Order: sequence, then structure tokens, then C-alpha cells
Amino acid sequence: MDWGLKNRIARMVKPSTGRSVMLAVDHGYFMGPTHRLEDPRSTIAPLLPYCDGLALTRGILRNCVPPEADVPIILRVSGGASIVGKDLANEDLTTSMQEALRLNVSAVALSIFVGSDYEHPSLVNLSRLVDEGENYGMPVLAITAVGKELEKRDARYLALSSRIAAELGAHMVKTYYCEGFHKVVEGCPVPIVVAGGPKFDTEKDALQLAHDAVELGAVGVDMGRNIWQSEHPVAMIQAIRAVVHDKATVSEAMEVYRSAVSASRVPSTSSSKPRSVST
Ligand code: R5P
Repeated sequence: MDWGLKNRIARMVKPSTGRSVMLAVDHGYFMGPTHRLEDPRSTIAPLLPYCDGLALTRGILRNCVPPEADVPIILRVSGGASIVGKDLANEDLTTSMQEALRLNVSAVALSIFVGSDYEHPSLVNLSRLVDEGENYGMPVLAITAVGKELEKRDARYLALSSRIAAELGAHMVKTYYCEGFHKVVEGCPVPIVVAGGPKFDTEKDALQLAHDAVELGAVGVDMGRNIWQSEHPVAMIQAIRAVVHDKATVSEAMEVYRSAVSASRVPSTSSSKPRSVST
């Protein structure tokens, strides 16, 4: 692997722990103004100091993230479908490698739709993106499907999709946690991060998912709704960091969450220190 590519990955997957907390805010590319992400600028700003990567589209990056921000960007480069359209799987590449380089991003991401009518074009797009990425030292994160394909959220399907992504050259895979998740990890020779999926009823459930995923070999999370749809997004991302980077148990992480919520309610004279929870 080339130095530039390794360097970009090391910015997201922290060498001190070998893990990563990526914040996903790319939902609008097919879902429009998602609840609590209606104004991405205000959702993203307080969470920026706590994420090891920010996953989004070029439009939200340009308009809602200050260029001074010191955060690795995972640029979504696939799209072209919507929740009111015919088929969410009908995506194509929507953003060029030149644009990704111009935006100085740390990785590009696209969805693949194994088992759908659009399996073939999505996999060929992945391969082409990897070829281009290799030319420029740009890591490619393959995302194993959203929408209808998620009904097949079992280890067999997710292991199949993740393995195919790795075989075609993806440098990282984003998939979903499932029963038998170890089979997904074992069959995939590149690092895996897990998405959170729709908001759970409780913060504890989301922390459990993150905990179990890293315990079984994921290098971290690329999580959205369970962080920014929480009543306390900053406390939630701090708790997720504790699980991912500090190997906290779910109860320890819940304690981190509760302390951060309390701290946010008490007016303080001292300045708060982001990243105090973990590396
Ligand atoms: C789906 O492909 C989107 O890329 C989201 O980034 C992904 O689902 C992660 O967000 P969430 O944790 O809300 O599911």
C-alpha cells in the first residue's frame, strides 16, 4: 500500500488504538432533510471535535463544514436515487476523483447493492473507483447497501457483500451489525466499520451495538442517527468513543454518557476539553 493511502487511513483509524469513530451525516443524499439533520451545520459543529472522520457529500461539506476544520473527510461519491424514487439501489458515481482530491478528503465512499437489480453496475463502479483511488492514494470505503437490501440484514448476506467489496479492492467496508457478526469480520480481509441504523429506543442499545461490533473485530463505527438523534448528541459521541477507543463496557460508557449530560447542565468556568474521554 502506498504511503499516501496509508497516511489517509491513519488519519481516520487512529494508530494509538487502531480504531475509529466516524460520524455519518450523509443521509440527505437520498432521504432529504432527515430529522435532526435538517440544518447540518448546527448538527455537525458541536460533534466535530469528537469524530475521527466525517462522512458526507460534497454539497454538505462545502456549505456546512468550515474549511478550517481539522477532521478527515469521507466523501460519499455515489448517489442518484431517493426514497421516493423507483429503486434506492439505482446509484451511480456522482462525484469525481478530481473533486475528491480538490476537497482534500481522506477517503471516498460508495454503496454496493449485492443481490439487487443493480448489483452489477454498483460492483463495477466500486472496481473503477478502486482503480482510480489507487492512482491517487485515495482509500475507498464500500458501503454494503441501504434501503430494501437491508431487509437481508443477516450474517450470510452481510458477509457475502463485505467479502465481495474486499475482493474488488475496497480498502475499508462499512456494514451493519447482525447476529453472527464474527462471520462477517472473519470473511472480510479489510477493516470494517459498522453503521448504527435507525435510532434505537435507548442510548444503551446503541452503545451495546458499538461494543459488540468492536468486540467481534470491527475497527469502529460510522454512526449517524444514534448519535445526532440522541437527546444529547455530544454526550452520546463521547460515550461511543469510550467504547471504541477505551474499550469501555456498556455500563462504563453509560456512566460517561450520564456524566457528560450532567456536565452540560452545570455552568462551568473552566473550558471544556474535547477528546478528554479518549484518545
Ligand atoms: C447510509 O448508507 C448512510 O451512508 C449512513 O451513513 C449510514 O447508514 C450510517 O448512518 P446511521 O448510523 O444513521 O445508519
